[in-house]
Amino acid sequence: MSIRDRIAAMEQNGITQIAYQRLNDPNVIALWFGEGDVVTPEYIRRAAIDALEAGETFYSHSHGHPALRAAIKTYLDGLYGIDVHLDRVSVPGAAMLGVTLAAQMALSDGDEALVIGPHWPNITMTYRATGANVNEVRQRATDTGWVIDVAEIIAALTPKTRSIFVNSPCNPTGWVMPTDEQAALLEVCRERDIQIIADEVYHRTVYGSEAAPSFLSIARDDDPVVVVNGFSKAWAMTGWRIGWVVAPKSHLVQWMTLSECFNTGATVFAQVGAIAALEQGEGTVHELRDQYARGREIVMNVLGDHPRIDLSPPEGAFYAFPRIRGMTDSYEFASALLAKKDVGVAPGYTFGANNEEHLRICFAQSLDKLEDGLNRLVEFVDETLN
Ligand SMILES: Cc1ncc(COP(=O)(O)O)c(C=O)c1O
Repeated sequence: MSIRDRIAAMEQNGITQIAYQRLNDPNVIALWFGEGDVVTPEYIRRAAIDALEAGETFYSHSHGHPALRAAIKTYLDGLYGIDVHLDRVSVPGAAMLGVTLAAQMALSDGDEALVIGPHWPNITMTYRATGANVNEVRQRATDTGWVIDVAEIIAALTPKTRSIFVNSPCNPTGWVMPTDEQAALLEVCRERDIQIIADEVYHRTVYGSEAAPSFLSIARDDDPVVVVNGFSKAWAMTGWRIGWVVAPKSHLVQWMTLSECFNTGATVFAQVGAIAALEQGEGTVHELRDQYARGREIVMNVLGDHPRIDLSPPEGAFYAFPRIRGMTDSYEFASALLAKKDVGVAPGYTFGANNEEHLRICFAQSLDKLEDGLNRLVEFVDETLN
């Protein structure tokens, strides 16, 4: 059987290409994935276990359990001071599935999509799977953080652009888009009917405020915006595969029908755990953020002054994306670091064009392990690049 060209051309992303060399090896300090090593809190697990024990093992509504959708609305309204329409809230499965369905909703063969690089590799793959072509506009590293002006983003839109992916706070750079720039982009996209996929999964991981600016604060009910969010990051629930979208109000039926044919609704007992996360989880959100803030400090201390390493401080998310001057092949470097020093990081090349001199380091791991891993990375840089 032949495979569709677009699918045949897909490559496994560079993060798993490195990680699957030594997955679950206890000798490895794993800073490759976007997750910490803290197990989901007990009260969330307990809610899901209770649901399973009560026999909640059947299909649920493919739009999401009504109680979870209501809890998401209450959470968002409280966090941003808004009154989001319940018809806009949908729970197809994990945030990744939300991005996939949003891309399917907007794109077909020959259309164009725009991503703001450096970016998470899954996004371009998801976009390309629709048949669309992907363009990229790149942030710049500065001493105070990664930046891009909204005018540069708008200038990169073409007459064929049908969707733009805005991930703020950004994986892998920590860039955060301010509200006035979100508003400027939204205005242009409204005029030209371009979909914005606003990936806000790191919305609670910002250093200095309660939440990052959200498109939800400025988008009207039927603006061309799909805000994607999830439980993986802020509540330490990566393995649960559960998230949500807030979509244009008039797209309610299409979200249900696409959800039906992609996953037929999210896992039932995971949805019950997700309700507990929203209703009881503020303490968890703050504890995790405090830990990530300490991890961020450690990264800045260990790598910040190294003569071969340029590191822009991340404003949000839990990644550092340093440039290692003299490194020419990020995959080869990350593989050798893993083999020689038992430290796992993600190679820069997989985050889009012009990232071959970069590595992505997740600093959500326990602080001792993180510091040890970073010291070994520095040793390796000194041994191999001097
Ligand atoms: C930018 C971004 N979006 C989406 C996701 C996926 O979230 P989920 O685990 O809910 O599918 C990730 C996970 O790393 C991410 O970094």
